[in-house]
Amino acid sequence: MDLIEKLNWRFATKAMNGQKVPQEKVDKILEAARLAPTSSGLQPFEIIVVTNQEVKEQIKPHAWNQPQITDCSHLLVFAAWDNYTEERINGMFDLTNEIRGFKNEGWENYRQMLLGTYPQRSAEENFTHAAKQAYISFGAAIIAAAFEEVDSTPMEGFSPEAVDEVLNLKEKGLKSVLLLPIGYRDASNDWLVNLTKVRKSKEDFITEIN
Ligand SMILES: Cc1cc2nc3c(=O)[nH]c(=O)nc-3n(C[C@H](O)[C@H](O)[C@H](O)COP(=O)(O)O)c2cc1C
Repeated sequence: MDLIEKLNWRFATKAMNGQKVPQEKVDKILEAARLAPTSSGLQPFEIIVVTNQEVKEQIKPHAWNQPQITDCSHLLVFAAWDNYTEERINGMFDLTNEIRGFKNEGWENYRQMLLGTYPQRSAEENFTHAAKQAYISFGAAIIAAAFEEVDSTPMEGFSPEAVDEVLNLKEKGLKSVLLLPIGYRDASNDWLVNLTKVRKSKEDFITEIN
């Protein structure tokens, strides 16, 4: 299958069979998520990988009891920074300087611009911006999972506050944004598996300005 065939093969899996995804494939999916671009390169989110069955059981009632939470192999929780602080912004700029091995005036000016903007905004506005960045990585993980022929279910259907509590995210300055159970489809119990994929036509989706 080429990439487009794999994207047609993937679907928001409704039933998973509990089979484990090989670590090598999980690592590739996580690496695709880590390599996703983010605004100013801040990567203002983390991924918590839950394989502990008891923790999955604790999360499930807070996610509409969706069975994939416990029947998946790995449950990826995308959690965004609750705010942009000077420390967090400096952390990423310092990391850039450290990895690249030099300081650049333009980049340092850009640092000052962000330091003069983000920490002054409300925590809510900053969290919303950070959460948008998590969605980009989430998309990359979904596509990478399909590429690896691993099933996944993108999920917004959960109570973030409750999941934050189960995972103690508040004390890390994080808030859960998205869940991505990955695993293998239980085709015999999945009502969606044989239904035709529905997407807008290219004509309704793409406008070409030549
Ligand atoms: C951000 C996001 C949140 C979603 N939340 C849920 C969810 O909580 N539970 C679920 O079963 N599907 C969820 N979906 C799946 C969508 O309904 C599904 O992706 C869409 O209908 C397209 O179908 P397909 O993914 O099977 O091609 C979500 C998808 C996205 C992108």
